Amino acid sequence: MDTKLTRRKFMQTGAVVTAEAVAEVVAGDMSKAATPHKKIASLSEIKAWSGVAFLYPESQPAMLVDVGKQVPGGVGPQRSIVAFSTLCQHMGCPVALDAADQKFVCPCHNSIYDPAREGMAIAGPAIEGLPMIALKVENNEIYAVGMTPVKGISSGLVYGLACDKT
Ligand code: FES
Repeated sequence: MDTKLTRRKFMQTGAVVTAEAVAEVVAGDMSKAATPHKKIASLSEIKAWSGVAFLYPESQPAMLVDVGKQVPGGVGPQRSIVAFSTLCQHMGCPVALDAADQKFVCPCHNSIYDPAREGMAIAGPAIEGLPMIALKVENNEIYAVGMTPVKGISSGLVYGLACDKT
């Protein structure tokens, strides 16, 4: 067996180590994510399709909404309550809840997101869904407890916020 380390092999090995090191750093940053537990509302205050605005994980706008039916990631008695960062994934404009159409709509370039489908982007230039916020119910109170990546829909990264802050 030839144990001589050629320049080519050295460069290939270096590239693999570098990629692994970057992956570890990224994973490490994500695992240290600063995602505070924050009380959002009481279950008794929630009405279907009337959003509750709040700031999360820091001062970024977010909204909790009861979509009126069981949905993936939903909490509450019907598993129908979900929450998202409301910063558009296209260029960061705040999106608005259109209760009549049951969607989040961005006023800047008309991206549309479906809160009943984990915040999926369904129209417009955004190619990623709204970052979903994990919720937890304790003693009739709803808490935001972190950001939730949704496979194939959203990375869970809030627009404009460094990944070690989400
Ligand atoms: Fe929302 Fe462009 S910023 S669609």
